[in-house]
Amino acid sequence: MIKKIGLVLITALVLMNCGGGDSEPAKAATPKLSPEGLTQDQIKHGIGPIGSLTLGPQDEALASKGAEVFELKCVACHKVNERLVGPPLAGVTTRRSPAFIMNMILNPDEMVKKHPEVKAMLAEFYVPMTFQNVTEDDARAILEYLRTLKGAEAPEA
Ligand code: HEC
Repeated sequence: MIKKIGLVLITALVLMNCGGGDSEPAKAATPKLSPEGLTQDQIKHGIGPIGSLTLGPQDEALASKGAEVFELKCVACHKVNERLVGPPLAGVTTRRSPAFIMNMILNPDEMVKKHPEVKAMLAEFYVPMTFQNVTEDDARAILEYLRTLKGAEAPEA
């Protein structure tokens, strides 16, 4: 019986040792975290359900659907070219990655709490953006609409 326990202990020790040895390369592969404990991906693409997202050419039908949802759910706080409760959104797709924008729409609570750049915006606008019951499809449509606002700030050429 005692022998058996000894064997188990030795096996456990050997296993632990192996584990310790393995953790070195695993540690090296861990991405560097920001001071807030976020990965570089989270800094760039935001915190939420959307990973990085590559956009194709502009889809006008989707953009006009997005404009309708925007009118319903966002204009209480956002204008295109002027500050309202929140920042103006013209040109936002040139400042932020597509995934960042969708995560802001789909998961604003966590973005406001944890993302350093959104926390900085909160310090400027005082009001935390809140979730507007937008589905992922609608968030994608709004993103397409926001892409059309890209040059809205620049004077007509
Ligand atoms: C209750 C007001 C409110 C509503 C409603 C709201 N927002 Fe916001 N939004 C804000 C505020 C305020 C900020 C700045 C960050 C903060 O303080 O939370 C912000 C930030 C953002 C940003 C980040 C801008 C940047 O420069 O990075 C995006 C994108 C955005 N909102 C899109 C939307 C969309 C799209 C909708 C509609 C689905 C929406 N918001 C609804 C208040 C609101």
